[in-house]
Amino acid sequence: MKSFDVDRIREDFPTLSQLVRGKALVYLDNAATTHKPIQVIDSIRDYYNKSNANPHRGAHHLGVLATEMYEKARDKVREFINARSSKEVIFTKNATESLNLLAYSYGMKHVKKGDEIVICISEHHSNIVPWQKIARLKDAELKYLYLNDDYRLDMEEVYRKITDRTKIVSIAQMSNVLGTVYPIKEIVKYGHSKGAIVIVDGAQSIPHMKVDVRDMDADFLVFSGHKMLAPMGIGVLYGKEEILESMDPFLMGGDMIEYVEEQNTTFAELPHRFEAGTPNVEGAVGLAAAIDYLNKIGLDKINKYEEELTAYALEKLMGIPQVKIYGPKDLEDRGSVISFELEGCHPHDVSTIVDTYGVALRAGHHCAQPLMKFLKAPATSRVSFYFYNTKSEIDQLIDSLLKVRKWLGYGS
Ligand code: ALA
Repeated sequence: MKSFDVDRIREDFPTLSQLVRGKALVYLDNAATTHKPIQVIDSIRDYYNKSNANPHRGAHHLGVLATEMYEKARDKVREFINARSSKEVIFTKNATESLNLLAYSYGMKHVKKGDEIVICISEHHSNIVPWQKIARLKDAELKYLYLNDDYRLDMEEVYRKITDRTKIVSIAQMSNVLGTVYPIKEIVKYGHSKGAIVIVDGAQSIPHMKVDVRDMDADFLVFSGHKMLAPMGIGVLYGKEEILESMDPFLMGGDMIEYVEEQNTTFAELPHRFEAGTPNVEGAVGLAAAIDYLNKIGLDKINKYEEELTAYALEKLMGIPQVKIYGPKDLEDRGSVISFELEGCHPHDVSTIVDTYGVALRAGHHCAQPLMKFLKAPATSRVSFYFYNTKSEIDQLIDSLLKVRKWLGYGS
């Protein structure tokens, strides 16, 4: 695609042309999940029409086709994140399952009494709760990196919290609430200098920016397909081969074994050792089609366009005197997620009222309750953009927000 043509792009997304309550849908909940282009939907239909079979099992024609498609999808992911080998790409259900796999297969083995696990206060529950469990079981300490008044993370805080006792640092590259993008490369470098392994939750970053695991040097990267145009139910765990090799399997069952005897089992090679049971081939095929779609437009163009949208939305939102933004107010190190409070209006009321104008945004704690406590906010309203959104949709958001306070009885 030569130039970025949002009207043309929108034609690929059937969901976006719907009317909601008689109004054009303005979908601003992309951090929760994105819509799917026809290219992804067609790839799944084609797979079922022509190649459906259980991969890695039958030697018959369809079994071979399904295996090829599944493994090709893995290689597509490898290329997308610049992993060294396809063995480093494990398919999971989503980022949550990838993090649980790491907690059980890495954390249970390597974290000992008195060790530390360091995470950030803005983590999603999926990057908190598994570590709470490991810390409790192992008598280790779960420590938090706190943010500055600008909703950013100072490296001084990283230097203070990561110590020689830190075994695991697990941090999202971009906050799903604040939009802050954290200095991952520096954190990885510092974590390694202290002997820790570093896990990066890329669920919110990878749909919007180029993520190169070799450049980042993270030990693990997790993400979900459904936030980057692919179907729900497919996710990825990237891990450095030598570390994955040292880990025990998480789920046991078919396809992850080498040989099973009555009392003992030896396990399959990477990546299959971590993929028990019949895999989600349609998900992998859809993810490969999603990656093709993103590559065709270009993540650089996507990123640039989303920056324009974010700048426009920040300016418009900050023009409403009753709006308080939770997150960086300029574009430096921030993505296209904006959380805010509309003074005197509960976020659930905001969401319900703007929905009557066709505007879909998310309200609540966004699966980040420790962050809400840190922000001293019970909940926020959140808009999150993707490259198919437009400035005119942001205008519709602003118009509908201006009506919310009137609905609730305020003069302005
Ligand atoms: N993690 C998703 C969100 O932030 C569900 O909305």
